[in-house]
Amino acid sequence: MQIILLKKFKIQKMKNILHIISSPRVEVSASRKLGKAVIEKIQEKYPDVVVKERDLSKDSIPILEEVHINTFFTPVESHSQEQAAINEYSTGLISELQEADIIVVDSPMYNFSVPASLRAYFDFTSRAGYTFKYDENGPKGLLNNKKLYIAFTSGNIYSEGPYQVYDSNVPYVKNIFGFYGVTDVSVFRAEGLSIPGIQETAMEKAIEAIIIDQFSDITRKGRLTNLQSSFLIGFSQSRFDQLEMEKRAKARSY
Ligand SMILES: Cc1cc2nc3c(=O)[nH]c(=O)nc-3n(C[C@H](O)[C@H](O)[C@H](O)COP(=O)(O)O)c2cc1C
Repeated sequence: MQIILLKKFKIQKMKNILHIISSPRVEVSASRKLGKAVIEKIQEKYPDVVVKERDLSKDSIPILEEVHINTFFTPVESHSQEQAAINEYSTGLISELQEADIIVVDSPMYNFSVPASLRAYFDFTSRAGYTFKYDENGPKGLLNNKKLYIAFTSGNIYSEGPYQVYDSNVPYVKNIFGFYGVTDVSVFRAEGLSIPGIQETAMEKAIEAIIIDQFSDITRKGRLTNLQSSFLIGFSQSRFDQLEMEKRAKARSY
């Protein structure tokens, strides 16, 4: 019933942006500056977008412990009270990803990789049945038709030269999101922020180089806003997502 109505009413959905901030620094953070510039350029082009912030320095995600792993591998109907709370937290983070049309990740280089908070975020969102599934052909991403912008900042230079092989940041973030099904990626880099002669202009140049894609290039089919879908068919998108997630969780295989 819902599928038929979704096809019939091709209503333009307001675009949602999820901005994932991972630097523990606030005032002096370079990646926040670059990520903010990406958001502002999207807003310049599309003033109606809705931006949701997930600031990992404010609401720290725990480091993965056994109780979390057990939760993720236990069917929802068998969850203890503690596991239900953990699952709710994890699926809440996943819902933000599902609802986003565009994801902007601030990804500063920390010890050749991402900040621990971003790694923890991936540990809580990489879940079979939610962000990916296994079928007869192997793993398959479940977050499709989304655009990812990575705002990368670093002291050294990794896009070229001898330190390229040390970059476990951008390839890693791309791989994780690619595994989730998000394959349309643009990377904006403010590199060499610790190198005299480069650091003075690196951020300015990175901001100038930001190019935002046309929305029409990010194909979205058959999704309505919560409000529109509730109004039209008395069935909210989040409830739809929840049922989908439950269905997928039941069908998952590891
Ligand atoms: C804890 C820490 C680790 C860092 N590790 C690296 C590194 O491995 N390579 C590098 O080029 N820069 C490194 N830097 C420099 C940062 O990548 C650079 O300052 C970046 O802009 C940090 O982003 P932020 O200001 O948003 O936190 C590190 C900085 C910090 C604070």
